[in-house]
Amino acid sequence: LSDRQAMRALGIETTCDETAAAIVGVERGGASKILSNEILSQIAAHAAYGGVVPEIAARAHVEAIDRIVARAFESAGLKASEIDAVAAAAGPGLVGGVMVGLTSAKAIALVTGKPFIAVNHLEGHALTARLTDDVAFPYLLLLVSGGHTQLLAVRGVGDYLRLGTTIDDAVGEAFDKIAKMLGLPYPGGPSVEREAAKGDPERFDFPRPLQGRPSPDFSLSGLKTAVRLVAERIAPLSDNDVADLCASFQAAVVDVMVDRTRAGLRACREAGITPSTLVVAGGVAANQAIRSGLNRLATEAGLPMVAPPLALCGDNGAMIAWAGLERLRLGLVDDMSAVARPRWPLDELKAAV
Ligand code: KG4
Ligand code: ZN
Repeated sequence: LSDRQAMRALGIETTCDETAAAIVGVERGGASKILSNEILSQIAAHAAYGGVVPEIAARAHVEAIDRIVARAFESAGLKASEIDAVAAAAGPGLVGGVMVGLTSAKAIALVTGKPFIAVNHLEGHALTARLTDDVAFPYLLLLVSGGHTQLLAVRGVGDYLRLGTTIDDAVGEAFDKIAKMLGLPYPGGPSVEREAAKGDPERFDFPRPLQGRPSPDFSLSGLKTAVRLVAERIAPLSDNDVADLCASFQAAVVDVMVDRTRAGLRACREAGITPSTLVVAGGVAANQAIRSGLNRLATEAGLPMVAPPLALCGDNGAMIAWAGLERLRLGLVDDMSAVARPRWPLDELKAAV
């Protein structure tokens, strides 16, 4: 992409339980490069509570942010004066943590005199496929994280058409709740996937909510309840039972993701949008079973599929730096009045600019 100038941005991410900072650059020729990507996970601090505690998260961000930002500059071998923009996730997320990252980014931007960019965390996930694979607009995005489960047509930077969303739980939330219910360690997604690998996906025939419906929405709470009812009925659970419950649950989730994404593809085309690619992003995109299910669907639909490398599925600073660069390139910078937003739907991005 020849319109890209050689630029580098710092990206700061503090919307949930990762304190992260990264520096990403784009060369004049168009090649993008992650120059550093520092992540401090707070998993240990929250594990005892079985989920993220907002107060603990905010405190931990305050304690870590300066160190993580300094490390991002050190490992990139750059000084603060050598970057072109400072980006921070301004939401959606836990507002106490978001304020920590946002305030640090504003301070660095003020001190260095560089432009400041308030990035939507979901846009960070959404644009990662362009950082790693230079995916062309428009594309169909399945965004699956702890707080979101959405199908979006990504038409451009800041230009999202939401095709479908969950009417109850997010898929990552469902993984986390199943893990908690079965006594598996937090965060639940990776634990459930690990157990599922040892289990029988056909032992329990769990429901596939909304399967076959034309509207590309999701529902996961009924599936979660079905798992709980079976777990209660066959308790006490052996290790095999836990593995089989996880495998059968994950198999149902894969079927749901594939079926709903197929409906999303149809809805996308009906809206007059021809996607270049099927993209999956967000923390749950790390799940190998979901990745292979979507791969099969993409093949069936004659589309390439792009999933971020595992290190870029979960929350990270590189995706924020990259979204910052995409915005900087279009002149979409913010001023110091940008606020932390606990709720910030992607399809409201245009109005917010
Ligand atoms: O994007 P992310 O890091 O944070 C949010 O913005 O929410 O996503 C975190 C979510 C958690 O619910 C976590 O359990 C889930 O992603 N997750 C997974 C896997 N790895 C992380 N879910 C299923 N399988 C995985 N391998
Ligand atoms: Zn996320």
